[in-house]
Amino acid sequence: MSDLRVSLGSLSLANPVMTASGTFGYGREFSDLLDLNRLGGIVVKGLSLKPSPGNPPPRIVETACGMLNAIGLENLGIDAFITEKLPFIQTLKCPCFVNIYGQTVEDYAGLAERLDGLNAIAGLEVNISCPNVKAGGMAFGVDPASAAEVVRAVRAKTGKHLMVKLSPNVSDITAIAQSVENAGADSISLINTLAGMAVDIHTRRPKLANIFGGLSGPAIKPVALKMVWETARRVKVPVVGMGGIMTAEDALEFLIAGATAVQVGTANFLNPGVTMEILDGIDAFLDANHIPAVTDIIGTLQT
Ligand SMILES: Cc1cc2nc3c(=O)[nH]c(=O)nc-3n(C[C@H](O)[C@H](O)[C@H](O)COP(=O)(O)O)c2cc1C
Repeated sequence: MSDLRVSLGSLSLANPVMTASGTFGYGREFSDLLDLNRLGGIVVKGLSLKPSPGNPPPRIVETACGMLNAIGLENLGIDAFITEKLPFIQTLKCPCFVNIYGQTVEDYAGLAERLDGLNAIAGLEVNISCPNVKAGGMAFGVDPASAAEVVRAVRAKTGKHLMVKLSPNVSDITAIAQSVENAGADSISLINTLAGMAVDIHTRRPKLANIFGGLSGPAIKPVALKMVWETARRVKVPVVGMGGIMTAEDALEFLIAGATAVQVGTANFLNPGVTMEILDGIDAFLDANHIPAVTDIIGTLQT
């Protein structure tokens, strides 16, 4: 067996295979289907201060090699998260990250403050792909200055690991990455979903009630891989890669391109045990190639 441990700053993960926010519930939903403690980490569904009903249905559409979702960040809010979800999370041995989002900088800071006191939470993943209501609905994550403002506000309220999740719907993702690194991010995860839509030709209506949504799954993997590679070259903090990872080979591509860890999202819907197969596949690849540690392949892309 190879050494699969990786470090995200001062945080140590048993292996680089994590689950992506919004595709793995709060962990418990998958607890009968796989051994959660074998995961490198779990990222729970995006959390806001107040409960949110999300968007009306239809909210999910299958597309070629992927899916579009417009869930609209439905969640139970932080109070119910603490009473209903935290007790199970406290029983987990693998690190749990809480993905947070808000409509204002103050929302993000308020969430960080509440979560900072919870010992069972290893870190925060800050989703900056959300509209800033004070900036006419422009997403925080498309502008280096507003992305940094969110990260500085969260940093001021938490000593926990601070992972910042980037949106791919920007012209230069490396500029956003550098900006959030300078603002205090401990690691950077990417990519969130790519904006997209689908049309029903018979009704001539959008297939999603929200008209557009976020594209995920294998269709986005080449885009994600390029963004991970260019971001990992630009920043010093660890990068966590995701986007269309279905197999161990996919995960290895991200690691070679410079990701220290990976998150698996849409693949969990097709095969709830996929993360275990990916983990075993990485291990088997390292063994077969006599590579003693997974860290030996991270960022080794030959160009
Ligand atoms: C149904 C669904 C819900 C999601 N919810 C969230 C969320 O709450 N917060 C977030 O940051 N990303 C969310 N995402 C994005 C994923 O975490 C991930 O970034 C994206 O799907 C790309 O990875 P994948 O191709 O492996 O799914 C969601 C994705 C899907 C498909």
